[in-house]
Amino acid sequence: MTEITPAAVNSKNEKISTGTREQWSSKFGFIVASVGAAIGLGNVWRFPYITGKYGGAAFLVIYILAALFVAIPLLMTEFAIGRKTQLNYTGALRKMRPGTPWYLLGLVGVAVLVLVLSFYFAIAGWTLAYVARSVTGSYVGLTPDKIGEAFGKFVSNPSEVMVWQIIVIILTAYVVIKGIKSGIEKWCKILLPALFVMIVVLAVRSLTLPGAAAGLSFYLKPDFSKLNPEAILAAMGQVFFSLSVGCGNMVIYGSYLSKKDTIAGTSLTVAAGDSLVAFLMGLVIFPAVFAFGLDPTAGPVLTFITLPSIFTQMKFGMFFATLFYLLLFIAAFTSTIALLEGIVGYVVDEWRWERKKTVIYTCIGLFILGIPSVLSFGPWSDFKPFFGKTFFDAIDFLVSNILLPGGGLVMAIFTGWVWGTKPALEEINSGEGIKVGSWYSISIKFIAPVAILFIMLQGLGIIHF
Ligand code: ALA
Repeated sequence: MTEITPAAVNSKNEKISTGTREQWSSKFGFIVASVGAAIGLGNVWRFPYITGKYGGAAFLVIYILAALFVAIPLLMTEFAIGRKTQLNYTGALRKMRPGTPWYLLGLVGVAVLVLVLSFYFAIAGWTLAYVARSVTGSYVGLTPDKIGEAFGKFVSNPSEVMVWQIIVIILTAYVVIKGIKSGIEKWCKILLPALFVMIVVLAVRSLTLPGAAAGLSFYLKPDFSKLNPEAILAAMGQVFFSLSVGCGNMVIYGSYLSKKDTIAGTSLTVAAGDSLVAFLMGLVIFPAVFAFGLDPTAGPVLTFITLPSIFTQMKFGMFFATLFYLLLFIAAFTSTIALLEGIVGYVVDEWRWERKKTVIYTCIGLFILGIPSVLSFGPWSDFKPFFGKTFFDAIDFLVSNILLPGGGLVMAIFTGWVWGTKPALEEINSGEGIKVGSWYSISIKFIAPVAILFIMLQGLGIIHF
């Protein structure tokens, strides 16, 4: 990479990426932004329905193991690659191993971010639409069937979904254009604490409902007979999606990090915050679902059909509903910010584009790319061109079960066997705070690659044991 001066401009006289990279103003700022990146629809929408689908607590055990020995070491690796090189993932790999094809891994990472954001904006739009529906009480008094019908009508009306999607895109673009300190960090510092308060209020409400205990037992009492290779792959995919690892999204946040604190310590805080929210979301959802005799395996519609059915029967239901969808929206929003920054950081670093222009063009492109996913919940719901899956299901499957674990696998091989765990640990442990050692090296060199490969091949039905 050629170095450029702090005052650099491109041929059109636009301000471009400078030699002095913007940094988070504090450790707290970095942590809230990274926890915000991690906490998202993955925790609050996907985690409960995937856990419900694959049988509750036993799934949770696999999830925790995958987090400890695969995803958290990879999270540390991503932050380390970013902080060491002060670059996006592609640029970082090129700088670390010049003249080799490793940088292609970074390009795959950007492609994954683009795929994820293409549908993520739309689902984030649903959450905002449901904030409005809860405030206006538009589903009060409806039976679960009617609520399901109303949801079906909403998602099958692309123009209505697109209006909400565009609002989310504009809000995200606004924050990312402002940059690291006055955009991302400033907003995450406000939104994340609010999210934690909301989730605690909702968990207390759900746990104190009569009949909540059955949900708690479904969620926390493992039944290992329900675990199969597909469930194990789903648990691992879920950890990757939730912690945003595998595609270099966290590399960009690491690249704005100072050397003051250890990456080991901050990563553990980020992972703990993310897992805590996912776990608490289970405590919000399952007790309520069981208390009202509904189906915990309802799938993606769990939060948009099952839960409104509960809220309408609850005292002060619309207050809790508004809180719930606002929480969902905040979680999604802090992730759309991080995902967009992952793409923007790449373009700004590599193509030397100006930030504002990059954000605007990227958002327009993402809106267009998201159209098939939006349509796959409506007019295209019967169009299943990919192994019997709709566009949305295919992208979700491809990202969570193939690209993120696959990206993580190659990243682990790169770090364990090419870059080396010694230099990686030097970066991870440099600064003040918790330090890690052989747990990291063994996980990255052996456990992560073997486990990811084995689980992927089993889960995809390529090998059978
Ligand atoms: N990590 C983000 C989520 O969980 C992408 O939704």
